[in-house]
Amino acid sequence: MPLVSMRQLLDEASKRGYGVGAFNVNNMEQIQAIMEAARETQSPVIVQASRGARSYSQDKFLYHLMLAATELYPEIPTVLHLDHGNSVDTCKSAIELGFTSVMMDGSLMPDGKTPSSFEYNVKATREVVEYAHARGVTVEGEIGVLGGIEDGHGAGGTGLEHVTDPDQAVEFVEKTGLDALAIAIGTSHGAYKFTKKPDGSVLKMDRLIAIHKRLPNVHLVMHGSSSVPKDLQDVINKYGGSLKPTWGVPVEEIQLGIKNGVRKINVDTDNRLAITGAIRKVLFETPEKFDPRDYMKPAREAMKKVVAERMTQFGQAGHAGDYASISLKEMTKFYAESAVAAK
Ligand code: 13P
Repeated sequence: MPLVSMRQLLDEASKRGYGVGAFNVNNMEQIQAIMEAARETQSPVIVQASRGARSYSQDKFLYHLMLAATELYPEIPTVLHLDHGNSVDTCKSAIELGFTSVMMDGSLMPDGKTPSSFEYNVKATREVVEYAHARGVTVEGEIGVLGGIEDGHGAGGTGLEHVTDPDQAVEFVEKTGLDALAIAIGTSHGAYKFTKKPDGSVLKMDRLIAIHKRLPNVHLVMHGSSSVPKDLQDVINKYGGSLKPTWGVPVEEIQLGIKNGVRKINVDTDNRLAITGAIRKVLFETPEKFDPRDYMKPAREAMKKVVAERMTQFGQAGHAGDYASISLKEMTKFYAESAVAAK
């Protein structure tokens, strides 16, 4: 099965009420870990690459690794998504390369740091929607600003400075025509999200529910949704690392989100922790080893375990075979017909 559009995956997830994890990648082992987890759990999957990942991997390498993934795992509906495109041009270049979904993060200016105006966000996102939909490609937008910084992208902060306003979310969806909406509810990228198990004062699930009530047919996206489990932190610290105590987004809160319109859940940090812990363990316990395969294999296995667990927890497990893929060409017709119906 060729790479599929994210819109199709999220529409299917919505029909059956489950969420789909979107896992970040930079290299072959991470792609392999995700695809093996998808096969083991029979899950449709979203693989995503940030701008940082594209430059780290020279994105053509990444793209061809993803083509290999579709050849080797033909039964798995697989999306290649651009995470946090900072400008219209970045999104266009990803589409030209073959990404089947892009995020236009117009909540920030193209510097990827400065919060933008609502007008700028609408204009940039609308432009990407027009370009992408004419090619059958899906668009995710963001309203409100997430906390933290990932791969150099982000405004920093806790994520509570620019929590999404439901009225603005409605207007944003109407004016842009996007497929999926990322909202800010107090989550942030990276390992240091919360200083204790989060409650409603810092993780605004009530805001998410309010937005879903106003936009019941829009696929919501939770960014910064690693759970930062203590056991993964402990492995790193046991073998010479120095992570400070920290809390992520509890899985049960994500599951509450899934019951309230969340269809895409972004997870990167948990996989980074799993990989780093596994590598540290091998190097610490067997310092005489120097073949990268000796630590990359357990690292890949550790990431696969985390991804498979999330796939089960998000409910996407068992759904890989539910549907045949719709080509991007057919998706262009879908968008053209939806536009006519909306007039
Ligand atoms: P985490 O840092 O919580 O894994 O979030 C990743 C993310 O949201 C990528 O866009």
